[in-house]
Amino acid sequence: MPEHEPYRLGVLVSGSGTNLQVIIDRIEAGEISAEIVCVISNKAGAYALTRAQAHGIPVIVHENINFSDRQSYDAETVSILRSYKVDLVILAGFMRILTDVMVNAFPHAIMNIHPALLPSFPGLHAQQQALDYGVRYSGCTVHFVDSGTDTGPIILQSVVPVEQNDTEETLSTRIQRAEHKTFIEAIRLFVDGKIQVKGRKVLIAS
Ligand code: GAR
Repeated sequence: MPEHEPYRLGVLVSGSGTNLQVIIDRIEAGEISAEIVCVISNKAGAYALTRAQAHGIPVIVHENINFSDRQSYDAETVSILRSYKVDLVILAGFMRILTDVMVNAFPHAIMNIHPALLPSFPGLHAQQQALDYGVRYSGCTVHFVDSGTDTGPIILQSVVPVEQNDTEETLSTRIQRAEHKTFIEAIRLFVDGKIQVKGRKVLIAS
């Protein structure tokens, strides 16, 4: 018997939703003791919404056009997440920086996936930044979100090689394959109660 009810996940998206799809699939396969209770997109046309609807998951389009500042946008996001009793927020390709309003509402309970080995190449176009710098290896990072840009405590990272003839697209595809495994593993560790945060460090129980 699980010690608690399945974790209630709220997933925030902006785009295609391949990470969302893997999370849905692994939950449906019974590999993660959690339920996605809502998917929120800041883009009306995001394909991630179609993926969620195909699995009967409630979707909310929450665009920023009606909000004068980032704090009031985030306050509304918090109120949506609270209305679904979310206890872990997953940023799966959500292309907005969160304010303290969100971060303080879910302390150490917002996870983001970033397509680089942080602290290298934060922000936008991380894969192109890695190519431009000439690194031999890049990868992905799953981290808790704080109010900086991709600066929160690191949960897991995976490394992929950078090939000489890589383009932003080919490197992104290789990184995304790693993302799909790494994100699942991080979520599983969280819902299994194996993660503890001490300052900047994330301790993982074996
Ligand atoms: C992923 O590669 C993720 O790392 C990136 O957006 C993509 C979303 O793909 N996120 C960021 O760059 C956040 N700064 P998906 O919609 O297919 O999951």
